[in-house]
Amino acid sequence: MADTVLMERLTEELAAWTARTRPELPCRVIDLGGGTGTFASQLADQGHALTVIDPNLDALASLERRATEWARGAGAGATGSIRGVQGDASELVELVGAGAADVVVCHRVLEVVDDPEQALTAVAAALRPRGALSLVVGLRRSVVLGQALAGHLGSALRTWQDRRRFDLEQVEELVVEAGFRIVSSEGVGAVAGYVPEALVESDAAAHEELATLERALSTDPAFRALAPAVHVFAELAG
Ligand SMILES: C[S@@+](CC[C@H](N)C(=O)[O-])C[C@H]1O[C@@H](n2cnc3c(N)ncnc32)[C@H](O)[C@@H]1O
Repeated sequence: MADTVLMERLTEELAAWTARTRPELPCRVIDLGGGTGTFASQLADQGHALTVIDPNLDALASLERRATEWARGAGAGATGSIRGVQGDASELVELVGAGAADVVVCHRVLEVVDDPEQALTAVAAALRPRGALSLVVGLRRSVVLGQALAGHLGSALRTWQDRRRFDLEQVEELVVEAGFRIVSSEGVGAVAGYVPEALVESDAAAHEELATLERALSTDPAFRALAPAVHVFAELAG
């Protein structure tokens, strides 16, 4: 549910960004740490040329299968495409070229890289001027709260002290320091992340009601700060 609303939002932001900056289509989109390609196939459906970069060979093998299925379903006239490349954030510019990408998607990856600041700097270097960034980062306070409520108190303390975990204002600062202008930011799972799926899965009306609530609350500043993750859409300055 939260990822469905996230994808809706990303689609709207990409459409507005495309209208503003008029890139050559299809856009060259890098999905950094894109794993098995859940987001990549949805963006390829929209006509974009996706390169998924991930260090995990098992994830890339699943991505290959997904890409083959996607290409079969897409048909001859499709402008979209998906390919996988093994690599990690520290070698992004070597892999794609400086200033070569239109859009970088970086969802739930800053938490797992060794150096988040360096990763965002590399993302900025890989983008062309006015290139777009879609960033999703787990928010420290909600992760700490979730772990503590589940009884994992040691993990909660480690998360609180982990320098790779960020709160909302720190995520926004990192993005600006890397050279971006923030276009929008909203919570991911602001309410859907806290409602057990079992409560709505067999009731289509309740499911739709929860999606409506999620859309409404995800941009409210207080709900956004407490959401499990934040989605920041930003444009490279210059
Ligand atoms: C939590 S998953 C997120 C997957 C996907 N982006 C999503 O939102 O569903 C984190 C991904 O980052 C990848 N990863 C781990 N270390 C990385 C690194 N140094 N550079 C790039 N990706 C990395 C993992 O292999 C994994 O696919």
